[in-house]
Amino acid sequence: MARVLITSAIPYINGIKHLGNLVGSQLPADLYARYMRARGHEVMFLCATDEHGTPAELAAAKAGKPVAEYCAEMWQVQKDLSDGFRLSFDHFGRSSSAQNRKLTQHFARVLDEAGLIAEVSETQMYSHADGRFLPDRYIEGTCPNCGFESARGDQCDNCTKQLNPVELINPRSTISGSTDLEMRETKHLHLRQSTMKDRLEEWIDSREGWPILTTSIAKKWLNDGDGLQDRGITRDLDWGVPVQKGDAPWPGMEGKVFYVWFDAPIEYIACAQEWVDAGKGEDWARWWRTDKGAEDVRYVQFMGKDNVPFHTLSFPVTILGSGEPWKLVDYIKSFNYLNYDGGQFSTSRGRGVFMDQALEILPSDYWRWWLLSHAPENSDSEFTWENFQASVNKDLADVLGNFVSRVTKFCRSKFGEAVPEGGAYGPQEDALMAELTRRLGAYQGHMEAIEIRKAATELRAMWAAGNEYLQDAAPWAAFKEDPARAAAIVRLSLNLIRLYTVLSAPFVPDAAAALRTAMACDDAWPTDVESALNALPAGHGFSVPENLFRKITDEEREGWQAQFAGVRD
Ligand code: 2FM
Ligand code: ZN
Repeated sequence: MARVLITSAIPYINGIKHLGNLVGSQLPADLYARYMRARGHEVMFLCATDEHGTPAELAAAKAGKPVAEYCAEMWQVQKDLSDGFRLSFDHFGRSSSAQNRKLTQHFARVLDEAGLIAEVSETQMYSHADGRFLPDRYIEGTCPNCGFESARGDQCDNCTKQLNPVELINPRSTISGSTDLEMRETKHLHLRQSTMKDRLEEWIDSREGWPILTTSIAKKWLNDGDGLQDRGITRDLDWGVPVQKGDAPWPGMEGKVFYVWFDAPIEYIACAQEWVDAGKGEDWARWWRTDKGAEDVRYVQFMGKDNVPFHTLSFPVTILGSGEPWKLVDYIKSFNYLNYDGGQFSTSRGRGVFMDQALEILPSDYWRWWLLSHAPENSDSEFTWENFQASVNKDLADVLGNFVSRVTKFCRSKFGEAVPEGGAYGPQEDALMAELTRRLGAYQGHMEAIEIRKAATELRAMWAAGNEYLQDAAPWAAFKEDPARAAAIVRLSLNLIRLYTVLSAPFVPDAAAALRTAMACDDAWPTDVESALNALPAGHGFSVPENLFRKITDEEREGWQAQFAGVRD
């Protein structure tokens, strides 16, 4: 029994997320959390909304609402959608919480005391037309690194480089479009990341088995140009955590707030405090403080590749630099991008399928299965309606659903709604068990290693093996000559349904729950295949489940293709 702390990158509050966002952090984190719980580990799974900074201010302005009100509403919308996708967070917090404000100000104080914060007089873009400074997303221009024309002031979405607004080529205001910009002096706090380069590099080099995507991005920015750059951690904005040294004011920094990327990862910790304050648990420190028991915790983070620099460099500087015993991440699972039908998913252009729309057209298991079995792990992957239809119809309806339906209906018609007695397992069953034993080992290995596509492939192969067995053993034929043989085949097959229920639950939790009810079975993870296939004894009652998965018709597919071809407002 281990203790596993799992965090998903916290989604920006600025609107409903698309399926590319979902598969880039929250969904795979949920898969892992469900698997770890099923294996008997103690899990703490946290996520929240990322509510500060320019994304929130811009979205609230567009919605014509005060930003605090906008955030409260959108938190509820995102919470409901995460429930809809069965994301099993222990707590879904808010980075604008009082807990996070306090903790962020605390970190700023201790980092300052450790000499890691510099007060710097710097030039920022000031817009005459807008009468204000233009931090981060208030400014766009051409990326100096890769030439992408819509790079934002804080980061280029194309090459992931972290940017400063003043570095952009041909900058323009995203509020007014104005290019009448002036570089003006203003005082800001910088996190002196550069002083910790060697320590970070040593730490990253000592991490074993991290995905290449994670380490390659980290190393790229560690050794970029002159090496790791110091970063501004304050902004001229109204909305955010006010710049303070703990409880005390920070002279000269009045009216400024911390940069959203400074307080967002701190929310991972604050979220556990919110979990306690919400009455869901007793002790957050045993998950987060290595002096309070967290040295035994394995901490795994999930995120899209654009988030990697902040989690491998900036946040570790906050943690290590504090000199306090906070838990550092043990494993970072990062993802490439999911594309949509020949282009990119885009929130700003409303391109692709968004979480609310997905649930309006099909139950969450259908999406979970497709997204996880096509997770963009080693390269970008692409959603097409054809592929989605084929995968749902084949894997879920024809293979898993069909197996369940054939076995339970055949049993009901010949033996009644209870596991039949008689007959012994023979060579066909032995062969099946040998294959399942091998595949179960592989499945578990891939799930432990968070190799999601490979795990899905093994799971699908286990479903297929059951179908082939049933086809070959043909209990409907055996029944005429040798009813005891047919009974043995059916008994094994009913046990196989129970085994599938347990193994498939992390991927398709609703179908698994429905099957568990129909089979009246427990959800104990198998210790070995042979005992798992003898778990339901003769006489154990069950009922024929409702059709588990329906097929997607060609008309539906074409309809959705057309419906989602345009952009949404
Ligand atoms: O990219 C994003 O959606 C960010 N809101 C992720 C923040 S993760 C973290 F640092 F909390
Ligand atoms: Zn770029």
